[in-house]
Amino acid sequence: MDNVTPSAPHDLAAPDPTEPALLGQGITGWLVVAMVVILFAGGLFGYDQGVISGALDGIRKSFILTPFLVEVVTSWVTLGAMFGALAGGELADRFGRRNAIILSGVLFVVGAAVQAFAPVTAVLVAGRLTVGAAVGVIAVAAPLYGAELAPRTLRGRIVSGYQFAITIGIFLAYLVNNWLSGGGSWRLMLGSSAVPGLLLLVVALIAPESPRWLMKMGRRPQARVQEAKLRPTGDVDASLDLIEKALKEEPQKAAWGEVFHKQWRRPLMIGIGLAVFQQITGINAIIYYANQIFASAGFPSASQATLTTWAIGGVNVAATVIALVFVDRLGRRLLLLAGLIGMGVSLAVLGVAFRFIVPALAGAPAAAPSIAGIVTLCGLVAFIVSFAASMGPITWTVITEIFPGEIRGRAVSICTAFNWLSAYLVSQCFLSMVEAFGSSLTFALFAVFCLIGWIWIFFQVPETKGRSLEQIQQTWAKTN
Ligand code: BGC
Repeated sequence: MDNVTPSAPHDLAAPDPTEPALLGQGITGWLVVAMVVILFAGGLFGYDQGVISGALDGIRKSFILTPFLVEVVTSWVTLGAMFGALAGGELADRFGRRNAIILSGVLFVVGAAVQAFAPVTAVLVAGRLTVGAAVGVIAVAAPLYGAELAPRTLRGRIVSGYQFAITIGIFLAYLVNNWLSGGGSWRLMLGSSAVPGLLLLVVALIAPESPRWLMKMGRRPQARVQEAKLRPTGDVDASLDLIEKALKEEPQKAAWGEVFHKQWRRPLMIGIGLAVFQQITGINAIIYYANQIFASAGFPSASQATLTTWAIGGVNVAATVIALVFVDRLGRRLLLLAGLIGMGVSLAVLGVAFRFIVPALAGAPAAAPSIAGIVTLCGLVAFIVSFAASMGPITWTVITEIFPGEIRGRAVSICTAFNWLSAYLVSQCFLSMVEAFGSSLTFALFAVFCLIGWIWIFFQVPETKGRSLEQIQQTWAKTN
């Protein structure tokens, strides 16, 4: 039964053989529903990542937490997401794209409620894991669902739309944090993600199942009903015939072992490398612990949440647009290499700035930031701009275009799992590293990873701008 095409998060760049059946149909109401699902998917992921930054302070006051436990509470969303993503592909293939999305909607709501009412740390962590699993499942199912429903002309934008939605989600979470800060309302902050979770659930319940998936499962009558909903003016049977023909011609999903075949070693290394460097250069240490970094830099507590909201969250959304506009004009390599220089230099500046604000780290609350504090703020903004215009979205763009169809789904899942694993390790270790080596050295270490990443990208990552997927695959043939 499981001969479904490779499918995975961000797997939207590939040409769809059913395209002729979909072209010229324009945007229908149901397509809008599918896009709303994608936006919610990215948005909820971002929201659940961002909200913790404002909630930590209150959580610390309610429970007695060691730095290690603070890290667990923060980072286990990512751990849950890693497992969720690995299971998400199978769930979406076996039970349908829509049902997988409904399942994550339920997990979002349950996870939010468990966190909001958690009586002890262990329950809070269980809630974080549940939300993480929801994030992982939906990150696989939603882009896939959108890709199967959207005409090809819109598919590329959906990849970018997903990343953009993540940044908007983080920003919204910061806004909520800012709005609720001061009242110790961490339960409300974490519980509030039940609202978008519920909305997602409602939208997914009314959304149609992907006709393509139904056809793959041999359920033509049901596929006919859904196709008629999606394209009321088209010839439904002709459309389904095209899907059927395309399904027969498309490559079978390769076994897991095939993904590791030496023929694909180079693209796999490139995908995993980008996924890992995206994280070990420190983005989520900053996204999660922004408030604390501002506190350490001497900003008074009243201004910390506002700074996090605008200097990190707002700038992240705005700078993502730079990449969306320039990725096809300037190319992936130029943006990646330029972005990493910006990230590395700003991290080095942060490292130096923190050498001058060590006393604030000891917990002495400052009335106003010092010059070093202001430099820290500038360094953080420069880092976010550089990341959002390069390693943030372009990592995902490259990962979706370097693999051949038969291994793409599984290969992208592996890269995604590595991404979340690295995100987990960084957010799990950040506070302990700051305790052990100090902020200055921790930022310096991230800067060193930028340098190593730069050298590695310079020698390993080819330019893929303006090349067809077939041409990109030929590159690997030549290098083998
Ligand atoms: C990364 C996330 C990160 C986000 C920030 C994404 O590309 O995968 O880990 O939090 O960008 O905008």
